[in-house]
Amino acid sequence: MERIYFTTPIYYVNAEPHLGHTYTTVVADTLKRYYNSIGYETFFLTGTDEHGDKIAQAAEASGTDPKSYVDRISNLFRTTWDNCGIAYDHFIRTTDNYHKEFVQKILQKIYDAGDIYFGEYGGFYCYGCERFYTEKELVDGKCPDHQTVPDYISEKNYFFRMSKYQQPLIETIWSKPDLIRPERYRTEVLAFLREPLEDLCISRPTSRLQWGIPLPFDANYVTYVWFDALLNYVSALEYRGGDSVQSFWPKAQHLIAKDILKPHAIYWPTMLMAAGLPLYDHLNVHGYWVMDSAKMSKSLGNVVRPLEMKERFKGMDPFRYFLLREMAFGQDAKFSDQALVMRINADLANNLGNFVSRVLAMQEKYFAGAVQPIGANWAAEDSQLRGKFAQAEDELTGHMAELQFHRALEAIWSALDHANRYIVQTAPYTLIKDPGKQARVGEVLHHLLEVIRTLSRLLAPFLPDTARELRGMLALPQGQEALFAPWGQGFQPGHKINGPKILFPRLEALPDPLEVKINNES
Ligand code: MSP
Repeated sequence: MERIYFTTPIYYVNAEPHLGHTYTTVVADTLKRYYNSIGYETFFLTGTDEHGDKIAQAAEASGTDPKSYVDRISNLFRTTWDNCGIAYDHFIRTTDNYHKEFVQKILQKIYDAGDIYFGEYGGFYCYGCERFYTEKELVDGKCPDHQTVPDYISEKNYFFRMSKYQQPLIETIWSKPDLIRPERYRTEVLAFLREPLEDLCISRPTSRLQWGIPLPFDANYVTYVWFDALLNYVSALEYRGGDSVQSFWPKAQHLIAKDILKPHAIYWPTMLMAAGLPLYDHLNVHGYWVMDSAKMSKSLGNVVRPLEMKERFKGMDPFRYFLLREMAFGQDAKFSDQALVMRINADLANNLGNFVSRVLAMQEKYFAGAVQPIGANWAAEDSQLRGKFAQAEDELTGHMAELQFHRALEAIWSALDHANRYIVQTAPYTLIKDPGKQARVGEVLHHLLEVIRTLSRLLAPFLPDTARELRGMLALPQGQEALFAPWGQGFQPGHKINGPKILFPRLEALPDPLEVKINNES
């Protein structure tokens, strides 16, 4: 069986899980479910990044020791993903012993090979970014990201000979045009690589930071957090055991947002080269979710929390649908409550939900729920309906390979629109009044039940709970087999379906939190 490996970034434990984290995690989950459905063996890794200055400071600010602090927030991530129904296979923590040992093993290997050396470094250090800035990079003497004045620090440290791998990296990127995708991020990386690559400072003295993995060759230093974090993608596979590293690692599909492009496109492949490991298969980079009116922040009260969304929409699927339908993978997307509610009402409540309840209600009313036979000769509109879904599935296959989830969903909805037109065209609610047309009504409804059965299969990676509910309403077994029967052979005549249920209640948009704040102030 072919294997494929999906990873999300391991999230910093200095913030609670929000919209941005949820998006990447939902994308990985959707891909895993999709590849499972087409016969791959998959492995899906997520987890938390728990070392470094940022975390040590967050722990201090919360008045606890680092270990209890990271235990608490890491657990919050894990339980959030569990409650959201995310089907990850392993949750890694960089404080796990096997991970620490793996990082030390790789550090020692690169050190022994002569690609780590001791040197002196001076620069402007931003604690928020956990990196040194050159004077040129500062804006008005401040960190461009955090708007804080960095400390000038000069100290002896260990360096990774990243510069040595600049040329091999450029050649690799040229030889595999979709290694980094979409294209715009590849272009960005190649532009960056036109300047000489500096060596990477990979240690912090314990006099300044203890919260890290000690260097195996010098106990006075701990590892730089990115060197530690990136290795999670392989340490988790080694921990899984067997031939996981050999078989899954070259099939790795990393999913990240553009904020961490440089570590993943430059540090990571050069580290892999130095460690003698093959490269990942693809680095898949998406854009940012931006709030309509302002940046998401706790003080503005507009942090989007996945479990609150689940509670509000009575399940995760509506929120998943919005995330996957609204963002074109690779580009930024706007988030607003208005847009969220409009999408869910229009596509899920009024379209999909309505379609399903209409069909099931007719089936129940006209035939007491019993599926009627389909004759050998199909009407042209019946074949067209089946053809439209076959076309949607073909299109979906292409879009999934390109990570264009919004287009994949568009293709399904375009077939659904066709099915709605088919109801109007065949008008079973009028035909049923003619006693000579009962058999035709039975056929039409049978085709419409095939639509719901096909939807249940096509939607499963995106909307897993809805797919399960659809199968329940059709009284089909939950396994895959019932879904893969050819059109027209999914139901035995006489099979009794269950009645309709409301799949997606219609919703009202919440007032914009910023407006609430302004109104409260006035
Ligand atoms: N710990 C590092 C990653 C190490 S991976 C070896 C880190 N953590 S993070 O908590 O800051 O997570 C960043 C990631 O969260 C982004 O790359 C993206 O996956 C997700 N997002 C956080 N905010 C986001 C948006 N506003 N929009 C989209 N995704 C974003 O960086």
